[in-house]
Parts: sequence; structure tokens; C-alpha cells
Amino acid sequence: MAVKIGFIGSGGIAGHHMRQLDTQKGVRMVAFADVDMARAQACADHYKGRAYQDYRAMLDAEELDGVFICTPPHVHGDIEFACIERKLPMFIEKPIANNLPTAKKIARAVAEAGIITAVGYHWRYIQASVEARKALKGQTICMAVGSWCGGFPGVPWWRRKDQGGGQNIEQTTHIFDLLRYLCGEVTHVQAIYARRIMHTRMKGSTVEDVGTTNLKLASGAIASITNCCCARNWGMVGLKVITHDLVCEIDGSDGAIIPAEGARRQIPAAEGQAARVSAAFINAIKRGNPALVASDYADALKTLAVTIAAAQAAESKELVRVPRV
Ligand SMILES: NC(=O)c1ccc[n+]([C@@H]2O[C@H](COP(=O)([O-])OP(=O)(O)OC[C@H]3O[C@@H](n4cnc5c(N)ncnc54)[C@H](O)[C@@H]3O)[C@@H](O)[C@H]2O)c1
Repeated sequence: MAVKIGFIGSGGIAGHHMRQLDTQKGVRMVAFADVDMARAQACADHYKGRAYQDYRAMLDAEELDGVFICTPPHVHGDIEFACIERKLPMFIEKPIANNLPTAKKIARAVAEAGIITAVGYHWRYIQASVEARKALKGQTICMAVGSWCGGFPGVPWWRRKDQGGGQNIEQTTHIFDLLRYLCGEVTHVQAIYARRIMHTRMKGSTVEDVGTTNLKLASGAIASITNCCCARNWGMVGLKVITHDLVCEIDGSDGAIIPAEGARRQIPAAEGQAARVSAAFINAIKRGNPALVASDYADALKTLAVTIAAAQAAESKELVRVPRV
């Protein structure tokens, strides 16, 4: 029997997941909800499902095996609680919220209900990350250097700090998460953010457009992650992990392992790797095994705690301890 999926939020990233799910066997996309009914309807027409403007009506009417929650960062809370009440497995796009209290409440409810969750930290699934994790086993990680530098996303909520949360919480979160995945937990952060130009170019923009964050890890390693969203037609996005014996580079879709001696090993994107993040969730549902996903709600909460701590550090200009969540 095919796994029946519903979407809450049928915008940009939802469309990406729909295209990936469409390539997978044993999945049917049956229902699509969006406050913008035209978007839900377009998806329903394309995938031969039903459209809803109110996600609650969708949850009441449909017999779903799982949902993809692909709403902006400020639209989390009621949606998750409605799904948890129905014991529905949830795939939630990162960031899981734009604030810690909401995410902590959801995490508690998820744990109590014992449902399968997955979060859209797809960098964990790319071949370069899989190989880097293997190569780093047993190595003393000295340092990591990461960045998400590039242009300004066009979706309207992104420019509002009270909605998207700012670049680190919303976007660079992928790099913070990958740092945790490859190098372990972060205990302290320092950060400097500034607004240089985008508030003059994007009407209503309240987000900082440059920043740099220093991080101290539980292992004793240190890291630095730089972000900007002010550059037109240029980008520098990725993470480099440095040890005495090797360096791992991850660049979004591919990467490399560079040993101190011997040849650099390039790791190209694996075929179909873009589908891995959604396929892992579908497989977890099929097999009833939450361990098949590389990022679940409880783990994503820890990444959110780091990016929120960085925002607090930028505000207070102090070294901030990352809360244990
Ligand atoms: N994993 C990735 O690489 C990646 C890439 C892009 C976006 N994202 C994440 O996905 C999320 C959505 O981003 P997007 O680019 O798709 O945004 P988007 O604005 O294109 O789509 C969001 C959709 O949610 C709908 N929506 C808002 N409130 C709703 C509600 N209460 N009920 C139902 N629908 C509602 C909007 O109408 C819109 O169609 C963000 O958290 C973003 O960070 C992740």
C-alpha cells in the first residue's frame, strides 16, 4: 500500500519535495493545503489530489500516513499540534520555528506522542557529508570554517526578522546543523551582525545582511561561520572541517576529502541524492522506524538553540552559552 502524503504549505520548497516524491515508488501525494488556495489547487491539479485552503479541513477529511509541513518559520505551532493530536508523522522544513519556546513545546509533545519526525536538513544526506562523517571518525577535529554568503531570497517573509528570524536562523542553519552533525555539540557562541545595505534595497527589510559567528564545541574544537545576503550574483556556501591528517570540504551538492599525504579525493553528488531527505521520511513511515532519518525534531531543536544563541550573542555582544534542549 502506498504511503499517502499531504502537504501543508505548497510554495517553493514544497514543490521541490513534490518533484522528488514523484520519482519514488510507494508514495502518493493526495492532498495539498495552502492559505493561498491557487497554490494548493495548482499542486492538486498537477498531482491529481485534493486542494484545501485550511489545513485543518485537510487533516479532518483525508486519511493520511504523513504530512510535509513547508510553511515559513513563523507559521509553526498550531499546525504541528494538530498533526500530533492525530498521531501523524511529520516532515518539517527547517528551521522548525523562529523561537525556542514554541519548538520546545512541540518537541515535548512529539516525544510524548512517540511519532516519527524528519526535518529538512538535506545537507546531512549528500554523499560528501556521508563520506566526511566516515573519514572524521577517530580524528581529532581541530577547527571548522563555514559560510553561507550570497544573495537575498525573494520570498516576502524572509526580510522580516520577526517572521524568518534572520539569515542564520533561517538559512545558514544548514551550516550550523552540518557542523553539529560532523563535529559534535556547540557549547558557546560569540557573534557580530550588521546591516550594511539590504535595508536600503529591500523595502521593509529588518534583517542583518552580514554576520560572523565564533563557536566553541564540547570536544574543544572551535569553528567560525560567516554569513551575508548582500552579494549579487556571487556565492560561497559550505563547510570545511580541519584535522591534522585530513580536511573535509562540503560544498552544497559535492565535496572532497583532502589527506595530508596522498591525492585529494573528490566526492561528486550521488545520483538521486536530492531525493534522499524525503525518501528517508517515507521509509521511516513504511518500516515504522524513526531511526532511518538523519535529522529528527529533537535533533533539529539543538540546531535551533545554537542559531538563537548566536542571535542573542550578537545582540548582547557577549559570549553566550548554548542552552541544553
Ligand atoms: N531545505 C532547504 O534547502 C529549503 C529551501 C527553501 C526553503 N526551505 C524552508 O521551507 C520553508 C518554506 O519556504 P518556501 O521557500 O517554500 O516559502 P514559500 O513562501 O515559497 O512557501 C510557503 C508557503 O506556505 C504557505 N503558508 C503560510 N502559512 C500557511 C498556513 N497557515 N497554512 C498553510 N499554508 C501556509 C504560503 O502561502 C506559501 O505558499 C521555510 O522554513 C524555508 O526555510 C528549505
